[in-house]
Amino acid sequence: MAIAQPAVLPEAGPFALYVVMKVIGGKDAVIAQCKSLHHRLATLNEQQPDANLRASMAFGKAFWQSLEKGCPAEFDDFTPLGDGDITAPATGGDILLHINSSRHDLNFYTLRCFLEPVAKDIEVLDETYGFKYLDSRDMIDFVDGTENPKTTEARSDVALIKDGEFAGGSFVMVQRFVHNLPAWNRLNIQAQEKVIGRTKLDSVELEDVPAASHVGRVDLKEEGKGLKIVRHSLPYGTVTGDHGLLFIAYCHTQHNFNAMLKSMYGETDGQSDQMLRFTKAVTGAYFFAPSVEMLESL
Ligand code: HEM
Ligand code: MG
Repeated sequence: MAIAQPAVLPEAGPFALYVVMKVIGGKDAVIAQCKSLHHRLATLNEQQPDANLRASMAFGKAFWQSLEKGCPAEFDDFTPLGDGDITAPATGGDILLHINSSRHDLNFYTLRCFLEPVAKDIEVLDETYGFKYLDSRDMIDFVDGTENPKTTEARSDVALIKDGEFAGGSFVMVQRFVHNLPAWNRLNIQAQEKVIGRTKLDSVELEDVPAASHVGRVDLKEEGKGLKIVRHSLPYGTVTGDHGLLFIAYCHTQHNFNAMLKSMYGETDGQSDQMLRFTKAVTGAYFFAPSVEMLESL
């Protein structure tokens, strides 16, 4: 059975690093680094047994096609969404490196080691350090992750392509959001709960989830079946600078991401996600994370 890359399935450690890169030089040297990363991490994990250091590499469509390994039929680029104040830009990228662990320093060290030999070949488009905040809250102070699939079996079912040449692979969606917390904090708790669709203290779904709330927009069903994704998002940033959520999720099909995004950005029924009045996407991209075997065969 094809094995998923290490960061895809397990619940995230308290620290993560998300790096989106563009390849501007020697592709072969960069691919060699991508392939050797897992061996380097195995050594580091032996030396630091409590670190639970895990990484996954994923690739943008044009770059993946240039590797001539075939292309999953559904694999598409992220397209910009929304209009007016509520928009999602498409910012691209050739490689996504997603690292998580119990140690901020090892995430930093891993990226340093990865980049050193290929610094001239890579332009880093976004380097964001995420951290678990309080009791798994987003910075809007609501628990994030309550309805995420929990068991390994459920997470595999949702995240991994089951059969065929791309088995064990996964589609990845990334959006970095910058929050406007002063505006958010002007709402009282009841109003905030109506925007999210769950209670603030203990994350219980409201009896009447408003259609334009965040949960109302993304808790979708098709033919009686819920559309699921495996989220690995974490808060990031500084108090006085930009801060928000680095949204990242894995799924066996891009369809689920597309359906949720269309619904959030008003392209399904004209209603948009009320949460987007208080947070704005500044990046957006789709990637494909091949199985370990396919990564090693590059
Ligand atoms: C649920 C926050 C962006 C998909 C939630 C919940 C919160 C939350 C607080 C409820 C608790 C939970 O079940 O985890 C945020 C914030 C975002 C964001 C702060 C950005 C700033 C997104 C995006 C997507 C998404 C871009 C997908 C395109 C989901 C899904 C659920 C969820 C699928 C579970 C819905 C359910 O089954 O009830 N999010 N989210 N979220 N979010 Fe988000
Ligand atoms: Mg639900």
